[in-house]
Amino acid sequence: MGGPGRWPADRGERSGRSEDRPVSTISTTGQFPDGFLWGTATAAYQIEGAAAEGGRGPSIWDTLCRVPGAVQGGDTGDVACDHYHRWAEDVDHLARLGVSAYRLSISWSRVQPGGSGPLNAEGVDFYRNLLDALRERGITPYVTLYHWDLPQELEDAGGWAARETAYAFADYARAMARELGDRVALWTTLNEPWCSAYLGYASGVHAPGRTEPAAALAAVHHLNLAHGLAVRAIREELPGAACSITLNLHVLRAASGSDADADAVRQIDGLANRVFLGPLLEGTYPADVQQDTASVSDWSFVHDGDLDVVRQPLDVLGVNYYSSTRVRRFDGEGEPVRADGHKTTAASPWVAADDVEFLPQPGPYTAMGWNVEPAGLTELLLDLHERYPDQPLAVTENGASFADEVVQDPALGIPRVHDIARVAYLRDHVAAVAAAIDAGADVRGYFAWSLMDNFEWAYGYSKRFGILHVDYPTGERTWKDSAYWYARLTRTGRIPAVFEAGPAA
Ligand code: FCB
Repeated sequence: MGGPGRWPADRGERSGRSEDRPVSTISTTGQFPDGFLWGTATAAYQIEGAAAEGGRGPSIWDTLCRVPGAVQGGDTGDVACDHYHRWAEDVDHLARLGVSAYRLSISWSRVQPGGSGPLNAEGVDFYRNLLDALRERGITPYVTLYHWDLPQELEDAGGWAARETAYAFADYARAMARELGDRVALWTTLNEPWCSAYLGYASGVHAPGRTEPAAALAAVHHLNLAHGLAVRAIREELPGAACSITLNLHVLRAASGSDADADAVRQIDGLANRVFLGPLLEGTYPADVQQDTASVSDWSFVHDGDLDVVRQPLDVLGVNYYSSTRVRRFDGEGEPVRADGHKTTAASPWVAADDVEFLPQPGPYTAMGWNVEPAGLTELLLDLHERYPDQPLAVTENGASFADEVVQDPALGIPRVHDIARVAYLRDHVAAVAAAIDAGADVRGYFAWSLMDNFEWAYGYSKRFGILHVDYPTGERTWKDSAYWYARLTRTGRIPAVFEAGPAA
């Protein structure tokens, strides 16, 4: 992240350094505080399947998956990992992994098919049983209420561009607090509202696939508002309930030390980071973002009193981190480069920022083409800590996609996945968290994305992020070497070496 005036003048130098820095030189004591949560994360649409079972209604992702060309390979979440039927087995895997927490999301259209009105008892029971099974195993449930799967009926009524959706979300949050309140340790309202707003309504890469920049800005605000209304509703139902939100904050690098590139960082930091952090944690929208986007919107969707609603005390701020982003002010020559890692289409997710270029970062890269830069995670956590010293943090997603292959282990007679690149990625990022803690950041937990391979949105099943491998035709789960490595980490609280990945001999 970077804010106006917050970045040192040596931006170019920083960028230069990241090019030569070998990934494995991060040093750390590797000590984690007592009670630090080790978890894995998933999301309902990506794993559940059973799209038309148990009274579930359609969501915007069911709809987008049916638009030709929208999702790679024409894949859908209809079956996904079949977690809806295999959840008990998945809880067994979590217990074997030794995690103390599991971050899951509730499918809104499974528990309230139309997004408003009566609840679907069968859907609520599904989560009740899952939460009970987790607690029986001593696994703390972190529940996200919205991981991108808006009930289609609400999109038909305007989606996140419509203010009413924020109120519908708060009603749903209240209903979940009432139904599941005694079973949930922490409520996360939204996952990555940046993606919901800009990929959903500006670039159209995500559901609902709209390319309307003004609607995207309205969605930003209505998501922020939805968060505030939901936190209030949850705490009205459950006084003292622990609440959070998860953001995908962008760690930004300027392409050079020029003022023009510093201003490009400022502009993108506004759209990516401060437009959420500002209202959520400080109760204000950044004036420069409103100025930058004045040609697109007058921001009249922000009503009097909204900002008081949006800003609610957060027990934890969730941070998802995968890679970093390099920007440059476009000089008007040729076509601007748009390698922002968010899948390039005709429309940009960056509202009113057509004169900002997104340059490829130095490698190494994961199968998503995302650069691997663990130091960016340390920097992000420390930057947040410096800005909001009293705000506890958690890394709610971090992980990597690589092309995995299942092979038979001749010695042990079991299937194996030798995902050493993922082990190295996880090790270096866990070390980056330890470094942030050593330097004073209040980080309460780390959640590996993901428990298992799953439906990776517009990429369908082509990208595997799991520490468990999923064979989609059969649904069979196989522990990758990274899962064995992670189990060692959760049991010892010590960062195992890469060679310690794999089953005990
Ligand atoms: C995040 C999403 C998560 C997953 C990872 C790879 O942006 O929250 O669902 O797709 O990226």
